[in-house]
Amino acid sequence: QSVLPEGYSARPLRRSDFHLGYLDVLRVLTTVGDISEAMWNERYNYLYKRNDEYYMIVICDGTGKIVGTGSLIVERKFIHTLGLVGHIEDIAVAQDQQGKKLGLRIIQTLDYVAEKVGCYKTILDCSEINEGFYIKCGFKRAGLEMAHYY
Ligand code: ACO
Repeated sequence: QSVLPEGYSARPLRRSDFHLGYLDVLRVLTTVGDISEAMWNERYNYLYKRNDEYYMIVICDGTGKIVGTGSLIVERKFIHTLGLVGHIEDIAVAQDQQGKKLGLRIIQTLDYVAEKVGCYKTILDCSEINEGFYIKCGFKRAGLEMAHYY
């Protein structure tokens, strides 16, 4: 298990994280768009009602500012006798906080939750440049991603 730097902490996403830089951390990953607090609350409420399906975690620095995030979505299947599959999504660490093992800690936390809730595997999609990171986190290349954009 990796250890967080002194003063840093990991916890589930909160509604008030809108004000703590959550969306800015996601901007290192991709386009986030212009999200008002009302839009945030609507999506947050949806996710919160399904908190046995969406597990969103954040890492805060010593001042409480959000410096990293990641999500686990638990998919409920018929196959494998009502098997559960974890999907890791939207892993992001603020640019100036990368290389401190925060990403590793996020993956370890989500992996722990996935195993605890009974997933038989956890999968994710990433680009080639991040393959080394996920290998260090214990993942291995499997399959091929296909996408259809609308
Ligand atoms: N390629 C190879 N190795 C890497 C990479 C990489 N791109 N990134 C990190 N590592 C290695 C580190 O050197 C470290 O190795 P060590 O244990 O030998 O020292 C190990 O992986 C753990 O690295 P962390 O310090 O935990 O990585 P960090 O906190 O910087 O987070 C992350 C990595 C999440 C990829 C970060 O760089 C980031 O936010 N990038 C931009 C957004 C992004 O691409 N997110 C992933 C999208 S894929 C998805 O969300 C499913």
